[in-house]
Amino acid sequence: MPVSIVILAAGMGSRMNSERPKVLHPLGGAPLLVHAMRASAVLEPERVVVVTGHGAEAVAKTAKAENPDALIAHQAAQNGTAHAVAQAREALAGVRGDVLVLYGDTPFVRPETLEAMRDARAKHAVVVLGFEAADPGRYGRLVMQDETLEKIVEFKDASAAERAITLCNSGVICADALLLFQLIDAVGNQNAAGEFYLTDIVAIARQLGKSVGVVRCDEAETLGINTRAELAAAEAALQARMRAEALEDGVTLIAPDTIHFAFDTVIGRDAVVGPNVVFGPGVTIESEATIRAFCHLEGCHVSRGAQIGPFARLRPGAELAEDVHVGNFVEIKNAILDEGAKVNHLSYIGDADVGERSNIGAGTITCNYDGVFKHRTTIGKRVFIGSDTMLVAPVTVGDDAMTGSGSVITQDIPPGALALERSEQVTKPGLALRLMTRLRALKAKQTKET
Ligand code: UD1
Ligand code: CA
Repeated sequence: MPVSIVILAAGMGSRMNSERPKVLHPLGGAPLLVHAMRASAVLEPERVVVVTGHGAEAVAKTAKAENPDALIAHQAAQNGTAHAVAQAREALAGVRGDVLVLYGDTPFVRPETLEAMRDARAKHAVVVLGFEAADPGRYGRLVMQDETLEKIVEFKDASAAERAITLCNSGVICADALLLFQLIDAVGNQNAAGEFYLTDIVAIARQLGKSVGVVRCDEAETLGINTRAELAAAEAALQARMRAEALEDGVTLIAPDTIHFAFDTVIGRDAVVGPNVVFGPGVTIESEATIRAFCHLEGCHVSRGAQIGPFARLRPGAELAEDVHVGNFVEIKNAILDEGAKVNHLSYIGDADVGERSNIGAGTITCNYDGVFKHRTTIGKRVFIGSDTMLVAPVTVGDDAMTGSGSVITQDIPPGALALERSEQVTKPGLALRLMTRLRALKAKQTKET
C-alpha cells in the first residue's frame, strides 16, 4: 500500500522567542524539519508535502534541500491542524493509498513506529499514534473503548474525567487519502480554541462506523519542541543516544560526555575518539582511525588507520585516505590527502590534492584565495614540502619534488626538482653581541636619568 507524508510546519513557535521559524532550529546539526523528513523517508513515500506558514520561504528551501521532490503547500493563516492538512489536498490530488500526518517539531519519531502505524492500517480505517504520558499536561487525550479509539479531546475542551486520562495524542495520524480529506471536510471549529482540530476526525470516523486504532510508542519519541529549554533537553537526549550507540557499535569514546555528535555521524568499529571532539554534519570515520582531543570535524571522510589531532580542524570536502596523519593546529578544507600523507603541524591545506606519502612541513599554507577566486594546489607523490612554504595556487608540485623552507612557490615544480625561493643569507660576525651591548647600555642610562 503506497503512502504519502504530510508534515505540518506552519506554526510560528512563538514560545521559542525567535525570528527563525521553529522547525528550522537545529538539533544535532540538522533543522527539526529534516529529522521528521528523514524518519518518514524510510517509508519510501509516494509524495511528501510540507505545509508552510510562518517563514514559509525559508522552510520550503530547507525542505527542498533535503528532498528536491518534496511538495510545498502554503497555509496563509494558522487555523488549526485540520485546516493545515486541508492545504495539502491539491498537492495530493490523485494520490493512491494512505496519508501519514506528522508534525515538523517532533523530531524523535522512529521509522519503526511509522511502519507499525502503516501495518495497523490493515485493521483500522484510521490509526493514531498514542503514548502514556508521565505528565499529560496539555496533550490531547485519547478516549478509548476497549481497543477502539472513540474520540480525541483537546485539553482545553476536556472534562475533569477526560483530563484524568494519561493515554495522549502524539499528533501522528494515518488514514486512506480519500477518507482523510472526506473526514477533514466535516471538521468544524466549535471548540475552546476556535480552530479546526485534526483530532476531530476520529469522532467523525466513528460516527461513519469506521474503526479507529491506536499504536503506542514511548513518550520520548513524541517529544515536541516548543521552547529553547525543550530544544536544549532534546539535544541532550539526542547526544546521549548517539554516544550510547557509538559505544555499542565498538567505538572507544575516552570521555563520552564531552563528545558532540551530529545527527548523521558515522564511526567505524575500533575507532578511538579522545575527549572534547565535535562532529558537525556529514562526517564518516572508518575503523581504527584515531581522533585525538579537541578536534572539530565537518563534512569529511577519515579512512582506516588515520590519525587526527589533537586540535585539528577538518572542514567540508576533506577526504583522508588510509594512514594519513593530520596533527595539531592544522586545517584541511576541500582537499584529498592520499594514503600515508602527513600534515603534522600548524598548516592550512585547502582546495588541494596531496599525493601518497608526501610530507607537508610545519607552517605550510596553500594560498588558495586571490580575493575573488579559489585556486587548486596539486602536490604529487612522495613530495617533501619544507616548513613554512607558501604554495600560491594554482600551482603543481611534481612527484618526488621538494621545496626549501620559507619558500613562496608561484611556479610549477617538475618531478624530482628542488625549488628554493629565498634571498641568500648574510652573516655579520659579532654584530649581534655589539648591538645588544649598545642597547643595554642605552637602557641603563635612561633608567638612571628618570
Ligand atoms: C496537537 C494536538 C494534540 C496533541 C499535540 C501533541 C490538535 C488539535 N492537537 O496540539 O492532540 O496532543 O499536538 O504535540 O491537533 N500547525 C500548523 N498549522 C496550524 C496549526 C498547527 O501547521 O494551523 C502545526 C504546528 O506548526 C505544529 C503542529 O501543527 O508543528 C502542532 O500544532 P500545535 O499548535 O503545536 O498543536 P498542539 O496544541 O500542541
Ligand atoms: Ca505542540
